[in-house]
Amino acid sequence: MTETVGHVLLEEVAMKNVQLQSRIVMAPMTRVFSPDGVPNDEVAAYYRKRAEGGVGLIVTEGTAIDHPSAVMHKDIPRFYGEESLAGWKKVVQEVHEAGGKIIPQLWHVGAARKAGSEPNVEAAPISHQA
Ligand SMILES: Cc1cc2nc3c(=O)[nH]c(=O)nc-3n(C[C@H](O)[C@H](O)[C@H](O)COP(=O)(O)O)c2cc1C
Repeated sequence: MTETVGHVLLEEVAMKNVQLQSRIVMAPMTRVFSPDGVPNDEVAAYYRKRAEGGVGLIVTEGTAIDHPSAVMHKDIPRFYGEESLAGWKKVVQEVHEAGGKIIPQLWHVGAARKAGSEPNVEAAPISHQA
């Protein structure tokens, strides 16, 4: 990193009214590390570390919307419900403390979810015909 100090990617930038500590944006990357859909302290530490490393804007891993076919694994973090949202609140606090910004990626994987798959085996995948 020391050799790239002064690089334009590492400069602060404003996106409308949001000030970013760098031009680096982290792409969403699924982790399946949130037990029963609740992001815990390990998740908060993971995202904090990226902000500490200089990422300006973090796009979270895909998060489940409140629908039975939204995702294909129970440990994908939810973006609904008191417990999960409290977990995300901690994540946001940690990232902000480290100087970063973060936005969620909202997921409904639709046809990518197989019929009869976890975590809701009874729920049909959602699709449409062209
Ligand atoms: C481990 C891993 C998990 C990923 N999870 C997601 C995800 O949750 N949502 C998403 O839109 N893309 C996901 N991606 C895709 C990345 O966000 C990104 O678009 C991709 O890695 C960038 O370029 P590539 O096509 O050269 O790999 C994932 C990629 C990796 C490697």
